[in-house]
Amino acid sequence: MEKLRSAVIGLGRMGAEPSSRLEGKVPAGWLPISHLEAIQSICDLTLEAICDLNESRMGEIAEIYEVDKKFTNYKELLDQEKIDFLCIATRTGERSEIISYAISKGTKYIYFEKPVSRSISECDSIIELARQNNVVLGYGVNRRYNDVYRFAKDFIKSGELGKLMQITIEAGRSNLLWSHPHSTDLILFFADSVDLEYIQGTCSFQDGYLPENNSYIDDDPIIENAYYLFKNGIQAGINLTGGFNVRLGCSKGILTIYGDGSYIEIKSGSGYFTNHKIIDFIPRSSATINAFRDMVYSKNDTARLPITPEEIRIGLLMLIGTLQSSLYGGKRISVDQVNHELIVTGRSGNSYA
Ligand SMILES: NC(=O)c1ccc[n+]([C@@H]2O[C@H](COP(=O)([O-])OP(=O)(O)OC[C@H]3O[C@@H](n4cnc5c(N)ncnc54)[C@H](O)[C@@H]3O)[C@@H](O)[C@H]2O)c1
Repeated sequence: MEKLRSAVIGLGRMGAEPSSRLEGKVPAGWLPISHLEAIQSICDLTLEAICDLNESRMGEIAEIYEVDKKFTNYKELLDQEKIDFLCIATRTGERSEIISYAISKGTKYIYFEKPVSRSISECDSIIELARQNNVVLGYGVNRRYNDVYRFAKDFIKSGELGKLMQITIEAGRSNLLWSHPHSTDLILFFADSVDLEYIQGTCSFQDGYLPENNSYIDDDPIIENAYYLFKNGIQAGINLTGGFNVRLGCSKGILTIYGDGSYIEIKSGSGYFTNHKIIDFIPRSSATINAFRDMVYSKNDTARLPITPEEIRIGLLMLIGTLQSSLYGGKRISVDQVNHELIVTGRSGNSYA
């Protein structure tokens, strides 16, 4: 296979932070997490160019990764270089514009960070453009590509713990767009469905923010609690318990992934599930590498697609729907009732998700 010419736009933490600076700060198996390092770890990709508005950061990154071609304007990069595989790790505001421009220049694989966009209609435009141009999309909800979470899903599917009934995400007091794209994506990943019956939630705003209306939220609200019911009967929830644990309640036991994939606990047996085992699972390769490989191979084998466009869309719809439910006093809302034009800026102080 001919190697795919690659580039990274946005060279901050997700785009380019080297593993050497992250060791000990993330659980085993997460590294390399940055787009740039993952590209350089995959033999099907060649790193051609990088782009960032911040020239001093770009200079530092160019030296570490030995890249010659540097751009401060992504359009110039995409005009001058034929890029097959593009990674976008800027903040969310300009993401859809960059994706559209890359597609117009013939890029066929685009991996972009979460959240996909600030509204559902913006997400729909990206997905439709990608569909029309046969572009493979990858999305920075990296836990679904992590071997620990994949192992857990296979274990649940094996049926050893009976039927999956309840998915609980314990992500602490976290923001809707900064953190919870991971939560809703994990819910979709384990539920193995995008068919929701309804969404219900309570959010709070940061620093005394009060929205002027229900269609433009200039904040990145905190999810206090959220509840989702799937048409297949699976229930899911997000609560304030911390630690980033994913609890999968089944008819014959409970599987819990603790500490963002640090280890797995399986409880089984009759009644109180007192049989107990811990699995320390070391992934074979990082989630980012798994995602990139699956994107490349999915061109010839669609079963390898790391995430479907519908999963990207419904993950965002669950977030916007949770906020909308909260704005209406915690009312249950169906998927059809979610406002596609509701914009959430994802602002926390001077920073955006
Ligand atoms: N997947 C994950 O686990 C995860 C974790 C943290 C952040 N994120 C997401 O990744 C994105 C980036 O987060 P981060 O922490 O790496 O941010 P960051 O601020 O560290 O990096 C963003 C970089 O993009 C550059 N940039 C901004 N606009 C640009 C433009 N138009 N052209 C070129 N460069 C531009 C900035 O100069 C900066 O260097 C965010 O959307 C965030 O929500 C994902």
